[in-house]
Amino acid sequence: MKSNFSTAQNKNRFVPRETICMSQSRCARFRHLRGIELGRVIAVANQKGGVGKTTTAVNLAASLAISEQSTLLIDCDPQGNTTSAIGFPKDPARRTLYQALVLGEPLDRIILKTQVDGLDILPADKNLVGAAIELMSTERREYQLKGLLGQVKNTYSYVIMDCPPALDLLTLNALTAADSVLVPIQCEYLALEGVSELLDTLMRIRRTLNPDLAIEGILLTMYDERTTLSKQVASDLRSFFGAQVFQSVIPRNVRLAEAPSHGKPIHFYDIHSKGAEAYINLAKEVVTSGEKRIGKGAGGSDS
Ligand SMILES: Nc1ncnc2c1ncn2[C@@H]1O[C@H](COP(=O)(O)OP(=O)(O)OP(=O)(O)O)[C@@H](O)[C@H]1O
Ligand SMILES: [Mg+2]
Repeated sequence: MKSNFSTAQNKNRFVPRETICMSQSRCARFRHLRGIELGRVIAVANQKGGVGKTTTAVNLAASLAISEQSTLLIDCDPQGNTTSAIGFPKDPARRTLYQALVLGEPLDRIILKTQVDGLDILPADKNLVGAAIELMSTERREYQLKGLLGQVKNTYSYVIMDCPPALDLLTLNALTAADSVLVPIQCEYLALEGVSELLDTLMRIRRTLNPDLAIEGILLTMYDERTTLSKQVASDLRSFFGAQVFQSVIPRNVRLAEAPSHGKPIHFYDIHSKGAEAYINLAKEVVTSGEKRIGKGAGGSDS
């Protein structure tokens, strides 16, 4: 834990160490293990819109960074919501993933430090739509982001990529560059709609572009414990996907919805909220499954 998180100068910046990470001995153990597995690249993807991809990418990345896992957040969505949610309002002068993908600019000239110690961002803006079009005529067009990540992958313990709500070339680039995919699913009526299409796409990507692509996990989002519908959907998803569903569930929480308009991850907006607790738990689960994967050598949480 960086010292500025250990002070109570700003209530919203105070994060009790034990809520985030793990015991000191486990932390030390994991630091050692990090030397073995650097740079786990996770794509947060679901072609369905508004299911919590950006909220998850931002708050999972921030939770990982706060728990001392150096993390790069990549905004692969021309909507640029991740970029603004982490504190960078629209700025036409800012370099983005577009300059890297299309003009070949080095990532170290584009990546920015965020307000969270240990968390950097590769930003996006609407120009990224152009990248998707301009890359169409490029040879090995689906491998461009993977090629770029070679510059930085081992600088970070985790790389979290927020994908657009489409199975377009940007999402294909992210899934080709990824070690695993995390699929947020909103606990609502017709939750499974589109998931079979996504799973078909993942199988196709495994056969063609990225045979090693694993399922990091299915994440239930916007869960409302007061409704029978949420409970029913969660139960259906668990019986359908079994152990691939994260134990952590993200509740519907107004603080999570408010934080992006303040340009803050939930930890700096309301650390005591249910939303903050849920994303901290998710980060623990991701880190723990990484530890298990290393311990086992191969396999892990994927299918
Ligand atoms: N757990 C939650 N509780 C309450 N509101 C949430 C929660 N998660 C996300 N939201 C809100 O729901 C909306 C959609 O979330 P988000 O932008 O994360 O979804 P998305 O999948 O990234 O959307 P898109 O497909 O457009 O990129 C946002 O207004 C967000 O603030
Ligand atoms: Mg989004």
